[in-house]
Amino acid sequence: MKISVKVPATTANIGPGFDCLGMALPIYNIITIEETVLPGTGIEINVIPETSAIDELSLEHIPLDENSIVYKAVQLLYNSIGQSPSELKINIKSSIPLTRGLGSSASVIVGALVAANELLGKPADEAALLSIASELEGHPDNITPAIVGGLVISSQEEDGTVVYRKLNWPSEWHVTVCIPDFELSTDIARSVLPKEVPMKDAVYNLQRMAMFMDAINNKDAELMKLALRDKLHQPYRMKLIQGLDKIMDNLKHIDSVLGCVISGAGSSILVISQKNDLDKIKNIIRDTWADQNIKCDLRTLNIEEQGAHIISSDE
Ligand code: HSE
Repeated sequence: MKISVKVPATTANIGPGFDCLGMALPIYNIITIEETVLPGTGIEINVIPETSAIDELSLEHIPLDENSIVYKAVQLLYNSIGQSPSELKINIKSSIPLTRGLGSSASVIVGALVAANELLGKPADEAALLSIASELEGHPDNITPAIVGGLVISSQEEDGTVVYRKLNWPSEWHVTVCIPDFELSTDIARSVLPKEVPMKDAVYNLQRMAMFMDAINNKDAELMKLALRDKLHQPYRMKLIQGLDKIMDNLKHIDSVLGCVISGAGSSILVISQKNDLDKIKNIIRDTWADQNIKCDLRTLNIEEQGAHIISSDE
């Protein structure tokens, strides 16, 4: 049997929602799991890049053995029903740029889990998939939208349960994903974060998060401009994303820009804006990065409301 699953990219944090806000985007990985008949072949993992944004160098970061998160995801699912995975071939057709803060690792974890679950006759429900995947990833903010689609607020509770609610994103607000040509591994981006933060910074983010909820509910652009700020991770990561301070500075004067935030752990940036001035905004970002010899890929995208789903299943 051979199962293919299509999983969207995700952007996480979105300003104030460190480790809890995430959104699915229309860039996809397709993960195919096939049961092979040859005994003793074990689990074979192949990555097939579908975009030039995924080069040889970034592919080197993907372990293809039992250290692979894909392998671990499949193993955890099998173990949860008292089995061990044996002969499987896993192909990852990858269009989501790697190490750019666009949820590529969440997407392969989710794709492998959903495909393996189907192979096994669906022993895990959505709650179990969310919980296993978030455990592996360490936080649910990319995993949840990769599974359920849309804009989502989520938390992983102490017992491992993931609690989430889908939120409505005002369709008139544009999301421009700015993907630079340099990588930033999540491990490095997390290593610069402090273990503890000042109380006033925690309060600052609480205020912004509450503003965010009200701003999207009431399509309140002025409130959103205040909401799309953060003191929990961005100040520490700014130095890892060359040109970000300049880009933020140069976009400050454009009235239609509601915010410029780091996508997940970076290196991509997310610019939220109203519909006018899109070209001007993109030119500012492209030119600012070009001044620092950084090339980029800028994409204004809709939100993907559909999460991971099976696109083919052959006996
Ligand atoms: N919330 C996570 C972070 C997303 O910012 O580190 C990346 O995995």
